[in-house]
Amino acid sequence: MSLLVVYSSRTGNTRKIAEAAQEVLPDDVVLVPVAEAPAPNGHDAVAVGYWVDRGRPDPKALKYMESLNGAKVAAFGTLGADPNSPHAEDVLKHTEELLQNNELLGQFLCQGKVDPAVVETMKRSGRHPMTPERMDNLREASKHPDNTDLKNARDFFRDVFEKISGGK
Ligand SMILES: Cc1cc2nc3c(=O)[nH]c(=O)nc-3n(C[C@H](O)[C@H](O)[C@H](O)COP(=O)(O)O)c2cc1C
Repeated sequence: MSLLVVYSSRTGNTRKIAEAAQEVLPDDVVLVPVAEAPAPNGHDAVAVGYWVDRGRPDPKALKYMESLNGAKVAAFGTLGADPNSPHAEDVLKHTEELLQNNELLGQFLCQGKVDPAVVETMKRSGRHPMTPERMDNLREASKHPDNTDLKNARDFFRDVFEKISGGK
């Protein structure tokens, strides 16, 4: 069995989730940054990792997702917002639509710390007012991905592996 894990990560959060796949089945995972964007040919399935950029998978991961057709695909991502928020729901929905020409094996999303430089830009631009709610959320995000997220990610990949091997 072979799972290709292609991930896009600007500050390392999503890379940590990608690495959780390798912890579950080290010999069956090929971990590759999206810059190399290999086709999933020769693998049983591909897992695509993204960070959320303005409510969508980041452009590099998005482009890779668009290149997939007829593959078995799992998607995982990290975002600054609460993963149970309507914003996160929207990301999941959009990702599902992006992958509609494939067999979707599952999706995983968890919170990830937001680059402090980006937070500063948000504050200065005035487009994202620093409400108490937003401050609370950024404080929570700064702790993620945490050990629970990584455990959940390992469980997610275990489930994906089961689906691939069960389908053979
Ligand atoms: C330019 C930019 C745009 C972002 N847009 C969003 C967004 O729309 N929603 C959100 O929840 N998080 C957003 N984030 C936060 C990132 O998705 C989050 O910090 C993510 O965990 C970063 O992953 P990485 O460390 O793998 O790069 C944004 C971050 C950046 C840098």
